[in-house]
Amino acid sequence: MRDVAIVGAFQTKFGELWDKSFRDLVVEAGIGAIYDANMGGDDLDSMYIGNMSGGLFVGQEHIGSLIAEHSGLTPIPSTRVEAACASGGLALRQAIMAVASGFYDNVMAAGVEKMTDVVDATPAIAAASDQEWEAQQGVTFPSLYAMMARRHMYEYGTTREQIAGFAVVGHKNGALNPKAQFQREISVDAVLNSTKVASPLNILDCSPVSDGASAVIVCPAEDAKKYSDTPIYVKASTQASESIALHSRKSLTTIESTVLASRKAYDIAGVTPKDIQVAEVHDCFSINGLLAIEDLGFFEKGKGGQAIEDGEIERDGTIAVNPSGGLKARGHPLGATGIAQATEITLQLRGDADKRQVDGAEVGITQNIGGTGGTAAVHILSRDL
Ligand code: COA
Repeated sequence: MRDVAIVGAFQTKFGELWDKSFRDLVVEAGIGAIYDANMGGDDLDSMYIGNMSGGLFVGQEHIGSLIAEHSGLTPIPSTRVEAACASGGLALRQAIMAVASGFYDNVMAAGVEKMTDVVDATPAIAAASDQEWEAQQGVTFPSLYAMMARRHMYEYGTTREQIAGFAVVGHKNGALNPKAQFQREISVDAVLNSTKVASPLNILDCSPVSDGASAVIVCPAEDAKKYSDTPIYVKASTQASESIALHSRKSLTTIESTVLASRKAYDIAGVTPKDIQVAEVHDCFSINGLLAIEDLGFFEKGKGGQAIEDGEIERDGTIAVNPSGGLKARGHPLGATGIAQATEITLQLRGDADKRQVDGAEVGITQNIGGTGGTAAVHILSRDL
């Protein structure tokens, strides 16, 4: 296998983007990444696009071809990748595997979602759960995560304030990110007093409904300096599956796919959680951020709430978690999220993250999950090969 590097990365602004179409967004992200890599479109051999549901959100399928055409990149192979909210993470993994295997040299991994064109996004998002056993019974993602939150509070004595604290950190970082959907700080009180969505979770515990796209370019590590002075190296790219339905799990407070994918990633990269300074984790709801910092091994199971309360996940804490603002504040255009996470870690490791820069960031990790964790993709990135 060849070593792989990220040599270009770009994210559009995330938010309610009424003046931009689905195709505008992904073309903007793709061109941004190509410029960032000092390449031309002709240098690309292939592209993978993470998208959860162009069909339900904008009535558009056959997205690979659409995007190749509108980026001016036809006839290169262009493949859509779908794994609910983990679509972006898996698109990145496909691109990395294509380069590592020697099949292609320069590959774009992009992700896009345009969610705000539908009146109610909830049924479309719920398509990522088990239709027969969950969605058709009226269960939505906020309510699934609400059950996980209740169970974590019951099993470990985690407080409502500690869970809310994850969203507070996201907004604090998002306030420094000009591309974030929400660029304002919030308090624990504000979270606790915001509109109830699915008890115990309130609106300020939830990631928003978002439009946006992101793209990265990967190439063989041996060629990386041709395109970037500070290539960021892929140390591990892993993926694991778990039952799609929550009720089939052994535990409601551990996302086993994250545990498995991350342990494998640590092995491959030859690092431990202590070697990582910066993480972008999948906080589609505040409780999921808390589960992630435990499942990734940053904190012992049951101790994540205390770690949040003690400021350990802040930019100057033990490990900086979601310096971009995370899904909560940066926004969560489903298929784009996994690529936006990789983009943020790339900027952080290059030292290009401006006001939200994490000092001394050398090794970073991304964790991107689909649904309640039926799919998990983990990437470890590093300044050093
Ligand atoms: N965080 C902070 N503010 C939010 C927000 C969020 N998650 N969602 C909406 N808002 C704000 C809007 O900006 C708007 O503010 P404004 O009045 O100042 O413009 C206001 O709240 C009302 O927005 P609206 O779009 O009407 O909210 P909504 O009630 O339709 O949607 C949720 C709120 C929580 C239902 C929606 O954000 C949601 O479904 N989130 C979860 C998405 C999801 O499940 N993703 C996949 C996870 S697996």
